[in-house]
Amino acid sequence: MSSLLETKIAARQHALREQGLLRQRKVLSVDHALNTNASTSSPRFVFEGRAYINFSSNDYLGLSRVPELVEALHLGAQTYGVGSGASPLVTGYSEAHLALERELCDLTGHEAALLFCSGFSANTALMKTLFDQHDIVVADKLVHASIIDGLQDSGAQLKRFLHNSLESAERLLARNQTSALITESVFSMDGDCAPIAQLSALCRQHHAWLVVDDAHGFAVLDGYNNADAAKLIDVQVVTFGKALGCQGAAVLGSQALIDFLVSNAREYIYSTALSPANAALALAATQYSTAHPELQQKLLENITLFKRLCREANVPLLGSDTAIQPLIIGDARQTLQVAEELRAAGIWVGAIRPPTVPVGSARLRITLTAAHAAEDITACVAQLAQVLSRVGVPLVTERQAADEHR
Ligand SMILES: Cc1ncc(COP(=O)(O)O)c(C=O)c1O
Repeated sequence: MSSLLETKIAARQHALREQGLLRQRKVLSVDHALNTNASTSSPRFVFEGRAYINFSSNDYLGLSRVPELVEALHLGAQTYGVGSGASPLVTGYSEAHLALERELCDLTGHEAALLFCSGFSANTALMKTLFDQHDIVVADKLVHASIIDGLQDSGAQLKRFLHNSLESAERLLARNQTSALITESVFSMDGDCAPIAQLSALCRQHHAWLVVDDAHGFAVLDGYNNADAAKLIDVQVVTFGKALGCQGAAVLGSQALIDFLVSNAREYIYSTALSPANAALALAATQYSTAHPELQQKLLENITLFKRLCREANVPLLGSDTAIQPLIIGDARQTLQVAEELRAAGIWVGAIRPPTVPVGSARLRITLTAAHAAEDITACVAQLAQVLSRVGVPLVTERQAADEHR
């Protein structure tokens, strides 16, 4: 007879499989042809013996394979060893961590920083520690799962405003004595940007803190990733696993906030510190991204090229100007089918389904990087247009005609 847990696991997995929502890992390997040919930096990997162009990575500047950064990790490990050996308040906090915190503060204008091993733990730690049942917190409808999980654990009263709607946010702020408003700089699944300056003004007016998850904006979005960030944003969470191409995260804010987190954030206190080698790497990657503005320029050119080619081929994008370019298909199974057909053509694109996105808004999440070559992007759009029409997903013109008949 099966145990209770075996029965529960089998039933849940069966239900997910039936709905086309089962998640499975894929083992990827490096493209050795790429490694021996330094001139081809285009993001590729091998899966089951076949090479794919990767349009599903958050390594927006292509930093994960830069030789100077590979060397920085190597040197960090030689200097400090491969691990931190303890939690930060025991003996896991080193000069490498401090140097990274100082660099992040110089870059953003915040007084102090605290490092975490991932953005997920930084967000949950921040929410759980900062808020309690006496707080009312308002958050954009589309904020990341780590923020929602942390807020739920905190016991705070959570109110959601319509995605990127200043009116909806203002209504909630006016009606409730709000401790903080939470949003993302660049939304991870839609690729659009929050109106940070306006939200900041609203927060000031209502004496609420503005907390921004900057995971997808840090090192790629100009405007407030500079010494002025702290003037607009009270608490900024930056992650190193996206545009910096490595791993880890930091919470940035006032010295009082960081001291409070050091004494109270359980994820910080009771967990092995980010390795000093990784801290040294994140510092090198931050400095590299600042010293190489041409990478941001190349990324912008690639985004512009992709959007122009999609417009010409009537491929219906969502209207994002960032590296994250979603194409909403709606049905989860059809989204998987389109992604699989693209893979058959050597193009690897993410198929994002509920619960990551709302039901009925399953989508392709196409991400561009500075490392893509123009030929990669041309091939991607040509295949997209072909696959969409073969699978029966309406292109822009057909969608417009359908809208006009509604
Ligand atoms: C908006 C946002 N915040 C936080 C995270 C978590 O960051 P990390 O991958 O470093 O855990 C992610 C990653 O998916 C994200 O998209």
